[in-house]
Amino acid sequence: MTDSLTIKRPDDWHLHLRDRTMLAAVLPETARHFGRAIVMPNLVPPVVTGADAKAYRKRILAALPNGAKFTPLMTLYLTETTDPDDVERAYNDGIIHALKLYPAGATTNSDSGVTNFDTVKPVLERMAKLGIPLCTHGEVTDENVDIFDREAVFIDRVLDPIRRANPELRIVMEHITTSDAVDYVKSADTNLAATITTHHLVINRNHILVGGIRPHYYCLPVAKRQTHQIVLRAAATSNDPRFFLGTDSAPHIDANKISVCGCAGCFTATNTMSILAHVFEDENALPHLEAFTSLNGPAFYRLDPNADTITLTKGDLVQLPTHIPTPEGDVTVFDPGFPLKWHIT
Ligand code: NCD
Ligand code: ZN
Repeated sequence: MTDSLTIKRPDDWHLHLRDRTMLAAVLPETARHFGRAIVMPNLVPPVVTGADAKAYRKRILAALPNGAKFTPLMTLYLTETTDPDDVERAYNDGIIHALKLYPAGATTNSDSGVTNFDTVKPVLERMAKLGIPLCTHGEVTDENVDIFDREAVFIDRVLDPIRRANPELRIVMEHITTSDAVDYVKSADTNLAATITTHHLVINRNHILVGGIRPHYYCLPVAKRQTHQIVLRAAATSNDPRFFLGTDSAPHIDANKISVCGCAGCFTATNTMSILAHVFEDENALPHLEAFTSLNGPAFYRLDPNADTITLTKGDLVQLPTHIPTPEGDVTVFDPGFPLKWHIT
């Protein structure tokens, strides 16, 4: 039995860091284990220009704990007025690494997202030419589509047409939750990959709804039925380079989660690596953990893996905080529902 494992330092290919006091509270949780993260641009107002991304990156670097070696990889929020020349400049200057497509209204702070996909054609063409990845929040917002079907319908109605129109565009389907998405990624030869979150490997919709409603398990895309969870676990642990970690760790203070209209988001930055080691061990796939957390993501983003390593050791119960305090209130750390025994050093 393996009880110690050294792997290249992991990266998080989908992360919400927020701003100001929340940023200061949650950034150390990610910087402790992760070398880099693709930072989501859904601030209020969103990060839409190269100048916005540069200023946000500066605020993140200023909030880092002393001695932390963490590199934020910035993204721009794709809007109907995004300027292809600004995108090209920011990419060539090394400021941004991807653009993020949110269908308007799909999730937290997505009001500036895209409604008419024809308007973003020139930007997508420029991105394809330069090799800039498009990260997609893959859910339609049509009120007539059931929330559990919104990812599968997005693939048919939005993603597949975009890929047919721009075969050279490199796309990351983010936080996938369905076997439909896994199948779609596997059906593509090139230019398509997917991130999978820690929490979607651990929970399915029963965990949210059976025996009482659990707001801390509510996120978007919402967890689906167990059959989908099983396929996600198989994909993540399969060593297939098209699947890699994007935690989608998304902090909200408890008052905004435990509410008559609670916010979507699971906060997993603190315990993600311990949880993943547990999941991969359960699936008899510990030797594939490094590919998922540390190798496949950099390969898709055309970056080198981190030079340094972390070591995971199985031992006594891991003692981690259950809440991260902020001046506005606590953020609850995701509870996987099983004891954690993998320590990270
Ligand atoms: C994210 C957030 O809170 O910003 N919430 C979530 O449930 N994942 C937004 C997102 O990525 O959809
Ligand atoms: Zn997200």
